[in-house]
Amino acid sequence: MSSTIGNSIKVTLFGQSHSKGIGVVIDGLPVGEEIDLEQVQSFLNRRAPGKSRYVTTRKERDIPSIISGLVNSKTCGAPLCAVFSNTDTKSEDYAQHLDIPRPSHADYPAHVKYQGFNDIRGGGHFSGRLTAPLCFAGAVCLQILKRKGIKIGAHLFSVGNETDTKFDPVAIDDALLDEIARKQFPVIDDAAGKRMMDVIESAMTDNDSIGGIIECCAIRLPIGLGEPIFDGMENRLATAIFGIPGVRGIEFGTGFAAAGMRGSQHNDAWRTDGDRIVTSTNHHGGIIGGLSTGMPIILRVAFKPTSSIGIQQRSVNLSENRECDLTIQGRHDPCIAVRAVPAVEAALAITLLDMICS
Ligand SMILES: Cc1cc2nc3c(=O)[nH]c(=O)nc-3n(C[C@H](O)[C@H](O)[C@H](O)COP(=O)(O)O)c2cc1C
Repeated sequence: MSSTIGNSIKVTLFGQSHSKGIGVVIDGLPVGEEIDLEQVQSFLNRRAPGKSRYVTTRKERDIPSIISGLVNSKTCGAPLCAVFSNTDTKSEDYAQHLDIPRPSHADYPAHVKYQGFNDIRGGGHFSGRLTAPLCFAGAVCLQILKRKGIKIGAHLFSVGNETDTKFDPVAIDDALLDEIARKQFPVIDDAAGKRMMDVIESAMTDNDSIGGIIECCAIRLPIGLGEPIFDGMENRLATAIFGIPGVRGIEFGTGFAAAGMRGSQHNDAWRTDGDRIVTSTNHHGGIIGGLSTGMPIILRVAFKPTSSIGIQQRSVNLSENRECDLTIQGRHDPCIAVRAVPAVEAALAITLLDMICS
């Protein structure tokens, strides 16, 4: 399985949803970097399950055990390894999926690829639980980026058809990003957040799930970070973001809406701001030609509705080779996007630090 990303800083995720533990190895971090583990924990707490009505009821404390890589709280050059225990597992809920794969989950393609030896419990290595170690790596990278003046933040932009206010693409305030990060339901406009909660509630009442979009930004990046063609900033960020389970799409800046615009509407005029050259608008989302322009990087990530739903569905009994009904047991997130907000920030932080250090 390829669960490693990065060139200069390599991040490897390991473990399964119901194995003894899950974790991450981060190799190649710059040395002597102080890592505040309380800040890491606050970041992890934003993703942890079981703390609100709108997420899975699985309760994991998500307190990492640091195995190596830090001496006196500073990176020491050895790989930084952190492990999380899996404690609240109910593996019996997944026994039926050995034979009857869940629609739209990885059960069936994984069964074929790994010849039935894959760990199906809780989704195994495909589980959203692997975003806990991803967030650990992201939290470490965020602290190093912050010292370089770079800040990353995200919010839940939509659930179903309910939308939050968008980030101002040319001027994003640090204080706004800090404020969202402190919220239990990470939106800019709390009234929109309430409407989104109602949409999730309604899906839950129907034993169903709902999709959503996360908007993420990175500010104060140096100009010219990235490469043309295959190693561009969009390419690199998309690779990391598609490592988050449940992602169905990503758009940068104006994204798909650009296809309906004229050049005169879409072009971002260059202008001077003291001794800096900036753009008046930011349809390009901070990236042109695969290179950062110094404007905020803005991207939106679409998450599918959680595939594990309580409504009876059709599937196939593999050992009997016959179609059958399936009712999924267990505890599931009704809307993946709610808990994935810090995971998107983490994917950005890991990639941007790697690009800066390469
Ligand atoms: C934070 C997070 C939580 C998730 N929770 C669930 C869940 O409770 N039930 C579920 O079926 N899928 C959940 N997923 C999504 C699945 O892991 C994912 O859909 C599955 O592995 C198939 O991969 P794909 O959707 O990327 O194709 C979650 C994903 C994330 C990021």
